[in-house]
Amino acid sequence: MPMKELELQKAFMLLEPGPVTMISTSHEGKHNLMTISWTMVMDFTPRFALLTGSWNYSCEALLKTKECVIGIATADLVDTILDVGTTTGRKIDKFAQFGLTPLPASHVSAPLIKECYANIECRVVDYIEQHSIFVLDGVKAWIDEDRKEKRILHARGDGIFIADGEIFERREKMGDKLPPGV
Ligand SMILES: Cc1cc2nc3c(=O)[nH]c(=O)nc-3n(C[C@H](O)[C@H](O)[C@H](O)COP(=O)(O)O)c2cc1C
Repeated sequence: MPMKELELQKAFMLLEPGPVTMISTSHEGKHNLMTISWTMVMDFTPRFALLTGSWNYSCEALLKTKECVIGIATADLVDTILDVGTTTGRKIDKFAQFGLTPLPASHVSAPLIKECYANIECRVVDYIEQHSIFVLDGVKAWIDEDRKEKRILHARGDGIFIADGEIFERREKMGDKLPPGV
């Protein structure tokens, strides 16, 4: 039998490696950040899902303002995403504490994160409370093309992180499965 059983509680690690993101919010005159690795692309349209709940301070801002920015983290930000994801913004200003720069967004009150490779301004269009899933529509996206480090960071789920590696180009074979314009 070539397949060995994998402990079921580790199965999520096989699907986990989406990009590690930092989510910015702005609520009651205060910017905040959290780290999120549980994200999902829901369509070729800019519709995304994030999984988080009331155990985090950011959840209140997401529910009340219905806005956020998704910042895409890269390999050079590995320790920053850990700082942001292991502290709560209830008492501290994470931008100031961790050397991050908020930049004004154009459609939402949550700030862009200057140090991220890319930022997506989003509006919350649904919240599925039973599963703590926020459904977001991207309304504007930004990318820092001049950035030297462009390797996106992935969380394995066990405290180990991976940066993008080899690239495989298969555009022709993908044919009409690719959406127009990508
Ligand atoms: C690598 C990493 C990934 C994380 N992914 C998630 C996630 O997907 N969903 C979530 O609710 N919390 C996640 N967290 C935890 C939150 O970022 C953390 O609870 C944070 O302190 C919340 O900040 P806040 O209280 O200021 O909102 C992650 C933390 C780390 C370090």
